[in-house]
Amino acid sequence: MKGLILSGGRGTRLRPITYTSAKQLVPVANKPILYYGIEALAACGIREIGIVVGDTHQEIRDAVGDGSRFGVRVTYLQQEAPLGLAHAVLISEAFMAGEPFVMYLGDNLVREPLRPMVDRFTTDHPSAQIFLAHVPNAQEFGVAELAGDRVVRLIEKPKRPPSDLALVGVYMFDRTVFQAVKAITPSARGELEITDAIQWLIDQGHTVRPYVISGWWKDTGKLEDMLEANRIVLDGLERRVEGDIERSEIVGKVIVEPGAKIVESTVRGPAVIGKNAVIEQSYIGPFTSIGDGVVVRQSEVEHSIVLEGSSITQVSRLESSLIGRNVSIYRSDAKPKSYKLVIGDRSDVGLI
Ligand code: TTP
Repeated sequence: MKGLILSGGRGTRLRPITYTSAKQLVPVANKPILYYGIEALAACGIREIGIVVGDTHQEIRDAVGDGSRFGVRVTYLQQEAPLGLAHAVLISEAFMAGEPFVMYLGDNLVREPLRPMVDRFTTDHPSAQIFLAHVPNAQEFGVAELAGDRVVRLIEKPKRPPSDLALVGVYMFDRTVFQAVKAITPSARGELEITDAIQWLIDQGHTVRPYVISGWWKDTGKLEDMLEANRIVLDGLERRVEGDIERSEIVGKVIVEPGAKIVESTVRGPAVIGKNAVIEQSYIGPFTSIGDGVVVRQSEVEHSIVLEGSSITQVSRLESSLIGRNVSIYRSDAKPKSYKLVIGDRSDVGLI
């Protein structure tokens, strides 16, 4: 059994962050999303993982390396363009060398152990097995129609969903999937769709099994979902306060990493303060991840992710925000009184 993690793609929904870096490396609770996927595969005994990469390949290689840190061997599979999830499968054929595999979307977070699913696949030998979850808004997902313990139809964003079972970003395949990804043609949006490949398997009489999960999962491709994933992961952490705390209140589930300095401030958990961060005369509210080396002075930040090396000074309150790397946000006393902004393409700034 091998693993395939998809970490290429366009990331249009998370611009401008994805103009300069891979969305799979945005940290949730100060750990890159991609690491959660690698750890999940490693935890169910998979040792050989192929990571599909695109334009951001160097950053991903630098972050993950050869995988030994996770107890796995990583091979990078370069996709020449984001031509679809089924295209990512297509280019992995040589790497898989006939073995079955778990495919995991690199921007997804799934809090469900993979081992039971892998075990069921190994005893049952279907051609494919797909993670499904009950959702209230099935119109917005790929949806599965079941007949007993078989998947009989997959429909992308149906107006009238045949069930409330949405496709979660984890799939298992045997080698038959390579026939499917070669047989299908690009969809209207020009991509080889994994739903079409699975539908092809069904139509050819191959067995596709559902695996309905009960734990939570998030596709972090959009800002709100990223913040929600951050909220849920932070909520599950244990309090651990290292670093230097002076005249400050640290309330609830808070992680303060070594080298961080918190002075005359309140940090209300769940929250994480990264290594060598400095928090002075500030309030860090619940569900906030402050990255390594971030400086927050005389400011309030809540329900936000701030990436490494950024600084926030005299900002009355920042909420529900994703701040990239090495960003400076500060109050200026320059006259005439005005906002002075240097902002990249497609940024989203809400002023009061
Ligand atoms: P998506 O989030 O569906 O696609 P995307 O990354 O292009 O993002 P957007 O819709 O915002 O433009 O992709 C799911 C995962 O699969 C994600 O980690 C990126 C990866 N992926 C590939 O590796 N190759 C591809 O061809 C595509 C489409 C996605």
